[in-house]
Amino acid sequence: MYLQKYQSKIVSAREAVKVVKSGDRVLLHANSCYPELLVNAMCDRYQELNDVEVAHLTIFQKPCYLKPEMQNHFRHNALFTSGHVRKAVNEGTADFTPVFLSEIPLIIERGILPIDVVFLHVSCPDAHGFCSYSVSNEVTKTAADHAKVVIAQINHKMPRVLGDNFIHVDKIDYIVECDPDLIEVPMVDPNSTEEEKKVYRKIGETIASLIRDGDTLQMGIGAIPDAVLTYLTEKNDLGIHTEMFSDGLIDLIDKGIITGDRKTLLPGKIVASFVIATKKTFDYIHNNPIVEFRTTKFVNDPYIIARNDNMVSINSAIQVDFTGQACSDSMGHKIYSGFGGQVDFIRGASRSRNGKPIIAMPSTAKNNTISKIVDTLTPGSGVTTSKADIHYVVTEYGIADLYGKTLRERVKQMISIAHPNFRDELEQKAREFKYLW
Ligand code: COA
Repeated sequence: MYLQKYQSKIVSAREAVKVVKSGDRVLLHANSCYPELLVNAMCDRYQELNDVEVAHLTIFQKPCYLKPEMQNHFRHNALFTSGHVRKAVNEGTADFTPVFLSEIPLIIERGILPIDVVFLHVSCPDAHGFCSYSVSNEVTKTAADHAKVVIAQINHKMPRVLGDNFIHVDKIDYIVECDPDLIEVPMVDPNSTEEEKKVYRKIGETIASLIRDGDTLQMGIGAIPDAVLTYLTEKNDLGIHTEMFSDGLIDLIDKGIITGDRKTLLPGKIVASFVIATKKTFDYIHNNPIVEFRTTKFVNDPYIIARNDNMVSINSAIQVDFTGQACSDSMGHKIYSGFGGQVDFIRGASRSRNGKPIIAMPSTAKNNTISKIVDTLTPGSGVTTSKADIHYVVTEYGIADLYGKTLRERVKQMISIAHPNFRDELEQKAREFKYLW
């Protein structure tokens, strides 16, 4: 039925992107669904285009629209700042929008971030004409639902991932057939030196001590969440409700440690919005009914998250001050990443019955020369997680349990998990600020 329509929409990438006009906002499918053919074809037209905004979440390829000669023709809007766009954001040649991952769909729906054109990279249609958003649903489904024009690269190598994760061919305006391999991203390996290995091992073990059989887990982005997975082999019946996951989960599913049997929301399902992973995970989630992908409007909604009893969220930070304010997206004024789903999950886990929101990080950065626990956040650092939101902070020196505690109690606990080289200095500052006396 849909085949005729499908055939009639097939064009070259060059043809398809002719629809982009000066002043448009184009949203790109993110992560391993980066629609490179379409982006390159749009960049080829740069001299005909001015002030085209290119918005997206994390990508793993160097985008052509950031080339110096394309300034003024294209301007990037980072909804999360990944490595390839960080320099441009911090040099002022690209923009950054601070926003909760759960609320990006809302700003699209409410017309605060209207989308003119969306570039997708989706799976082939099934027998009913539905293409899967594959390994990356996040905010792209919402963007496609609201965009004026939808252009899709259709790739038979894209896994068909189940959930509220499909677009019908009828809703696609232009189709570009292609077959590139998916971009693979292995788990973060924090183990560059023996000392770092020890630190991450200790943090992983400590977090594992906070996790109980039957808990439902969210794992954020970075080295810590990846490290924790290694220490969960003695647990039973864990469940997953997370915006993102990596290869480490697959081993735990294979070993029968993750079953989802005790989940109170969508039991048995791995609820997620995207993966940052390799072929191992892509193959595993293809057509697999245990996986339920939805937009971050659902997955990251703190009220939805809280419907999971025993929800444990594990995220990391760049700096935490000794009252419990965490900065996770910048180093001073220099933007490093974004809000992502950190606050969404901290709030959701906080409201969950027996929930535990955790922020974990090594106590120091740069070979023990910088304390990540500070008396005052570096000027320019924004508060990602507020001191009223924070619960557990974990370093290699232990756990600070700050929720509902006074400033005095917090400061004492935070100093006790700081690196010993910095504790005296922190204590002196605490006395100066009259938190201790
Ligand atoms: N001062 C100076 N440099 C610091 C620092 C500090 N306080 N803290 C970290 N760094 C440096 C590290 O040394 C490292 O430098 P390198 O790349 O030169 O080695 C770099 O910053 C990254 O630090 P690292 O600890 O390796 O980061 P990570 O990959 O584990 O990620 C966050 C940690 C906080 C950046 C990441 O979790 C994040 O972006 N969080 C916000 C969003 C979020 O939590 N989302 C939830 C899921 S979407």
